[in-house]
Amino acid sequence: MSEAKESTETAAEGAGQGYLEVDDLHAGYGDVRVLHGVSLRVGRGDICAILGPNGAGKTTLLRALCGMIRGRGAVRLDGSPLPARSPDAVARRGVAHVPEGRGTFMPLTVEENLRLGAYARRNRAEVQADMERVYGYFPVLKERFKQEAGSLSGGEQQMLAIGRALMSRPRLLLLDEPSLGLAPLVVRELFGIVQSINQEERTTVVVVEQNAHLALGIAGQAHVLESGRIVLSGSAAEIKADEQVAQSYLGYRI
Ligand SMILES: Nc1ncnc2c1ncn2[C@@H]1O[C@H](COP(=O)(O)OP(=O)(O)O)[C@@H](O)[C@H]1O
Ligand SMILES: [Mg+2]
Repeated sequence: MSEAKESTETAAEGAGQGYLEVDDLHAGYGDVRVLHGVSLRVGRGDICAILGPNGAGKTTLLRALCGMIRGRGAVRLDGSPLPARSPDAVARRGVAHVPEGRGTFMPLTVEENLRLGAYARRNRAEVQADMERVYGYFPVLKERFKQEAGSLSGGEQQMLAIGRALMSRPRLLLLDEPSLGLAPLVVRELFGIVQSINQEERTTVVVVEQNAHLALGIAGQAHVLESGRIVLSGSAAEIKADEQVAQSYLGYRI
C-alpha cells in the first residue's frame, strides 16, 4: 500500500470517523453457532460497552468485527463493508483489536511491541511522533521502553497492548475485557486513559467488559448480550439506573 493511500485511509480521515454498523450478524466456529443476529450502531467517537455473562459471545462478536472469524450479515465502517475473514485488511481500514489476554509479545521490549503496532506504516517520523503520543498517555511505558514486555506488571501489559493498538491510528478500537485480572486501582487508571484517548483522538471504542460498573462509567451506550443475542440496549445511564434489569441480565448489582 502506498504511503499516500495509507494516510488517506487511516491518519488523515481518522479523526472523528469510525461509524460502525452491524446488521443481523451471525458468527461462530465451524458448526458451533454463537451469534444469532446481532445488530447495533456505534456513532463516530462514541464509547459502546458490550456487557453480558460468560459465554454470551462477547469475544466472538469482537472477533467477527475484526475479521478473525467469518460472519454472516453486514458489518460496515463509515458506510463501507469491512472485508470478511481478513484481519490484515480490516486493520488497514482502521480497526484495532486488543484481544482478551492482551497478546503482547513477551520477549520483545516495550518499544519493539509499539513498533509492531505500526508495522504497516513507513513514515518513520510519523511513527516516532505516534510513539511519543502513546508515551504521553502511558508515561510508565516510556520509563520502561527497553524492558521486555514479559517483565511488566499486568496493568502495564494492558497499557502496552492498548498503546500498540494506537500505533495504527485506529478509527475504531475494540477492547476485550481490559480489566481482567487487574487490581481495581489500576483498572480505574486504565479506563481513565481509554476515556482520554476517546476524547482527544475521537476514536470510536467498543469495550467488552464483565465489570459492568466500570464500563458503564465511560460508555455512552451499552448493549447486553446473552446467548448470542442482544437482549437489552440503551444509554449507559439508562442501563445503570435500572437495577432490576441489571440484576436479571447481568447477575449482579451494578
Ligand atoms: N475457538 C472456539 N471454538 C469453538 N467454540 C468457541 C471458541 N471460542 C469460544 N467458543 C464458544 O463460543 C461461546 C461464546 O464464547 P465467547 O465469545 O468467548 O463468550 P464471552 O466472551 O462472552 O465469554 C461459548 O460457548 C464458547 O464455548
Ligand atoms: Mg470473552
